[in-house]
Amino acid sequence: MRFTDKVFLVTGAGRGIGRAIAKRLAEEGGRVCVVDSDVAAGRDAADEYGDRVRFERCDVSREPDVRRAVRAAVAWGGRLDGAVANAAIVHPEVGPTERLALATWQKYLAVNLTGTFLLAKHAIPHLRRSHGSIVTLGSTRAIQSEPDTVAYSATKGGIVALTHALAISLGPEIRANCISPGWIATDEYAPRKSRKRPDLRAVDNAQHPVGRVGRPEDVAGLCAWLLSEEAGFVTGTNYIVDGGMTRKMIYK
Ligand SMILES: NC(=O)c1ccc[n+]([C@@H]2O[C@H](COP(=O)([O-])OP(=O)(O)OC[C@H]3O[C@@H](n4cnc5c(N)ncnc54)[C@H](O)[C@@H]3O)[C@@H](O)[C@H]2O)c1
Repeated sequence: MRFTDKVFLVTGAGRGIGRAIAKRLAEEGGRVCVVDSDVAAGRDAADEYGDRVRFERCDVSREPDVRRAVRAAVAWGGRLDGAVANAAIVHPEVGPTERLALATWQKYLAVNLTGTFLLAKHAIPHLRRSHGSIVTLGSTRAIQSEPDTVAYSATKGGIVALTHALAISLGPEIRANCISPGWIATDEYAPRKSRKRPDLRAVDNAQHPVGRVGRPEDVAGLCAWLLSEEAGFVTGTNYIVDGGMTRKMIYK
């Protein structure tokens, strides 16, 4: 129960990795404000995880929404010890770059990169008081790519850079670290009605040096550690959580 008396805000926590992070922080005694633009998913998470978890609707690309969500979390919890910028448009494929609409490019930037900046901006005064911590969600796509993923990959590279800039700007009171997951199967952290076991092929697991696809808990455990006092000497880093995939040579 290392997070007794601690208060956290996690964006995009209605489902997937964010939901697993919220669950983990609450299980360890923390109070967690689940923030999501999907009202049904966010309410479902708050209902499932009990009194220490509440839901706040918010589109992270809109500054008034983010300001209001942070204020609501602090009004409810009395403080803020950690902010997790996890919400994103997660579909990497946007088609050929020469036909990519500017509006699509800007939407990815607005939610993934600007949303991360806005959460940091509005959380900073509270985190300074608590000597708290920021965790951002990058991706292994910040350092490697499939074709036709330019918008998503650019936002994730931006988040890695934004995070070390935050660490150097906000220390010593506030730490900031990024987690860059590889393939994480999130079906078991859907809202309860649509939850299912991941449908994975043998080859999906076998290609990973650790022998399996990632689980949301793999990210949640690291996130909890980064938010804890045990990680007090860790800031500005980018942790790759990918079962070894980006260390594997794949020449054919
Ligand atoms: N799952 C993976 O394999 C993987 C791999 C690398 C990185 N990531 C990163 O991890 C994070 C979580 O991914 P996931 O797979 O759990 O995603 P997900 O789609 O399961 O969940 C994302 C959540 O964010 C919310 N969201 C989307 N836009 C929002 C907005 N504008 N405002 C507020 N909430 C919004 C969605 O409603 C949803 O609940 C993302 O940053 C993603 O880029 C995931």
